[in-house]
Amino acid sequence: MGSQIGVTGLAVMGQNLARNIARHGFPVAVHNRSESRTKHLIERYGDEGDFTPATSLEDFVASLDRPRRIVIMVKAGGPVDAVIDELVPLLDKGDILIDGGNSHFEDTRRREKALAERGLHFLGTGVSGGEEGALNGPSIMPGGPDDAYAPVAEILTTIAAQVDGTPCAAHIGPDGAGHYVKMAHNGIEYADMQLIAEAYDLLTSAAGLSAPEIGQIFRQWNEGDLESFLIETTATVLGHTDAATGRPLVDVILDEAEQKGTGRWTAQSALELGVPVTAITEAVYARALSARKDQRTRASAILPGPSGGSAPDGFVDAVRDALYASKVVAYAQGFEQMRAASDEYDWNVDPGTLATIWRGGCIIRARFLDRIKEAYERSPELPNLLLDDYFRDAVANAQDAWRKVVHTAVDLGVPTPAFSASLAYYDGFRRERGPASLIQGLRDFFGAHTYRRVDREGVFHTLWSEDRREVSAD
Ligand code: 6PG
Repeated sequence: MGSQIGVTGLAVMGQNLARNIARHGFPVAVHNRSESRTKHLIERYGDEGDFTPATSLEDFVASLDRPRRIVIMVKAGGPVDAVIDELVPLLDKGDILIDGGNSHFEDTRRREKALAERGLHFLGTGVSGGEEGALNGPSIMPGGPDDAYAPVAEILTTIAAQVDGTPCAAHIGPDGAGHYVKMAHNGIEYADMQLIAEAYDLLTSAAGLSAPEIGQIFRQWNEGDLESFLIETTATVLGHTDAATGRPLVDVILDEAEQKGTGRWTAQSALELGVPVTAITEAVYARALSARKDQRTRASAILPGPSGGSAPDGFVDAVRDALYASKVVAYAQGFEQMRAASDEYDWNVDPGTLATIWRGGCIIRARFLDRIKEAYERSPELPNLLLDDYFRDAVANAQDAWRKVVHTAVDLGVPTPAFSASLAYYDGFRRERGPASLIQGLRDFFGAHTYRRVDREGVFHTLWSEDRREVSAD
């Protein structure tokens, strides 16, 4: 008997995933381009399960049961194509390749199509949860044909995180669906972290609290509706003291946020689909602005801000409410985007399933996901989470505090792009009539782009440069 599955690419995510598989009793073949990682894995963790190390891809492939199931855990982009190209001549019809990296969904669609033409299956699979999740139970989002998922379903659902007896792994849909939702997960992760960072900034810059004090506040928040991995982690990071200086670590970390691209891809795709995901996009922009440290340093010396001011009473609780309301908006936007993508690419993605498998294992895991799951159970076709009774009430209850926080931030000159954008979206979304009528009027004026009317059917144009008569443009 050979191994039931193989993992190639044994950097920390691949290594931990292979260990997770082996620990659950599935014989696993392991391979890495440079042999040292394979050796390290076997020496250090070989007793955790049934590993078959291979030094060449030929041996690796030969050691697998059929259909062969191979997880590729290499850097997204060219390296994935390179590994696929090497593997393909060694494989037989019906074998299954699983790309577990953060690949762009369009690459996944291309690969799935090309491999299907050769009789091979490809599952573009989002894996979330970082190193710890890969080892102890990630959230897993496979996308690809049903025939490819069925033979790996048992392994993937077994190694995934489990919440209330339900695995945090499910078949998402065909071709790029799995990588798309993983990308959107990361976009939401960006928004979530930006909102947390803005709350931290307000509590520092407006309320004058120290990092450990704010850490304590986050710890308390983690006992309520905000309970989540990221809030808990924020408490831990803010409470940590730098050994070298004795100062809070967060005070000595350089304030330039890096990014690998998934948040940007989410915003790009949202723009193409025409879905307003303002919180995610503002989070991407905020990282870009943070990275302009030199310019900010220059600007800080010459650009004046407002003169003084302080946070109002009850500010800490207000920030908590603003954070929750903004988070509802960010998730509502992210879920709407996934629905739009699913329609566009014909994926039939079920948003309730996403909420279910994101309750555990992944970076955005949170109590809140249970509420989203329930909302989709109540109304599977819900177009926007803000239209659900629970979220409508949650935001309505928070809105006074939310407005006060944004108002205070503006008065004091503390930037809160994601809080503010979320509130502006909420106000735009809840208005039956907005100012786009003027935009249409302007477009008609300078470009004869036409407009429709509220009082009768048809398409119209005003002869602006003649006698300003309205004519039908049907
Ligand atoms: C996850 C994370 C993981 C990674 C991000 C970080 O779900 O486990 O999202 O994929 O931490 O890619 O992304 P940035 O480096 O772009 O912040």
